[in-house]
Amino acid sequence: MANNKTKHPLGIVIFGASGDLTKRKLMPALYSLYKGKRITQSFFILGIGRTQYTDSNYRSYMQKELAEFVAKEDQDKDWMDSFMSQLHYLSMDPSVESDYETLLNRLKELTGEEQPSNLLYYLATPPSLYGVVPLHLKKYNLNGKETRIIVEKPFGYDLESALKLNEVYTSVFDENQVYRIDHFLGKETAQNILAFRFANGIFEPLWNRNYIDYVEITAVENLGIEQRGGYYDTSGALRDMVQNHLIQLTALMAMEPPLAFNETDFRNEIVKVYNSLSPLNQTDLDEHIVRGQYMASETKKGYREEKNVPADSRTETYIAMKLGISNWRWSGVPFYIRTGKQMPTKVTEIVVHFKAAPHQMFHCAQGNCPHANTLILRIQPNEGVLLRVSMKVPGSGFEVKLTDLDFSYDKLGGLPFGDAYARLIEDCIAGDPTLFTRGDAVEASWRFFDPILKYWKNNAAAPLHGYPADTWGPLESEAMMNEHNASWTNPCKNLTNKDLYCEL
Ligand code: BG6
Repeated sequence: MANNKTKHPLGIVIFGASGDLTKRKLMPALYSLYKGKRITQSFFILGIGRTQYTDSNYRSYMQKELAEFVAKEDQDKDWMDSFMSQLHYLSMDPSVESDYETLLNRLKELTGEEQPSNLLYYLATPPSLYGVVPLHLKKYNLNGKETRIIVEKPFGYDLESALKLNEVYTSVFDENQVYRIDHFLGKETAQNILAFRFANGIFEPLWNRNYIDYVEITAVENLGIEQRGGYYDTSGALRDMVQNHLIQLTALMAMEPPLAFNETDFRNEIVKVYNSLSPLNQTDLDEHIVRGQYMASETKKGYREEKNVPADSRTETYIAMKLGISNWRWSGVPFYIRTGKQMPTKVTEIVVHFKAAPHQMFHCAQGNCPHANTLILRIQPNEGVLLRVSMKVPGSGFEVKLTDLDFSYDKLGGLPFGDAYARLIEDCIAGDPTLFTRGDAVEASWRFFDPILKYWKNNAAAPLHGYPADTWGPLESEAMMNEHNASWTNPCKNLTNKDLYCEL
């Protein structure tokens, strides 16, 4: 396994170097690692794509993009120039085996080695290439023990394709060379769920069916699908967000304490959660899942009017689901998860609803009756944690009202420079796959979701509800929660202030 003591320069080889992900996320992340002196070995970046660039015009193109995608306060001319000098480009077709000879030659030139080995590949290509690139790399012995490969999501399109992909990867690499990335696990606030639960003694005793009534997990956005119609229409919200990001957050909330925070123990616990998800049978499906698609509002287009989306598309842009976890800790506690495009705001958060106190002996302050405690873990924006508890209203009498005990990341000095991608690429450089998805986890997750996809595919009449852009999704998703006497917690639309919530 490669580590930062290796004597060879590290080659970061990005497939899909002229694409959107590279300019928006990968290059800004690499720049932040470089400027933050978090890459401690000598390195170069080789971008690969079909677009024709020379090194020099790729650098100019990327410099312009970084000016847009790196925060202004982090742009520094000297650092930027020096970063640019590490950039190289090779125009080749990643689907053509013989082109890898050119790649091998270029890598020999850049590393000065006969058989380049300290290489980190990043697959930021369309998913159709995920199964092809490793096989071609192997053909040219570019898969030595020191190499690592980061593969973007979605890893597979369904269970069958994920199994096939895993077969390809294990025929080329060892499992610990394969880094299936889910950038939600790179978020500080997602990692903080682990610290919150397992570095404190006071929450874990309450973290079970005896004290928790239900859990909500929301990851919604106020954007549509932007320029990604071609990809999104074959993916939909379930493949794009639920099968990976939302289910990862569910696992962090529901997992048993790992023995240690390492690649084996932590990832074993994730797989156990996935294997404990209560399978949905055909009759449960329409009851436990609400699918929606955004329609035009006064100011926004509808999904079917987006570029590269068929006018009769039945792809979902919203999903709300009720998940059950069949084990001692969670039996009977619903996990409601939802994601959607064109919602009123962008927010990712988890709300834990505790059971109410068994007996209320106090009056409530005007119109503000105490109800059960809630714990809000705000993943983004206004990152923080908020616990809502009842307090006495000062003055005569004895009235109580809910108030907030809150923590904001600003109190820890704010979040570090560089986002989730920076953190994960840094871990991969260091050879630490803990925060990446293991092959068996990806399969376990697909095993749960595959029947849902098949059901939709085979039942053209399965409900798909329209919702106007800028609303909180189909009303049916409220109805789904009302059965549990619950309702979604919708944060206020304007999240620009530093409060986690606008009002109690
Ligand atoms: C990506 C999805 O994985 O996550 C996008 O493909 C989505 O559709 C994005 O917009 C959300 O990530 P974040 O970090 O902006 O919440």
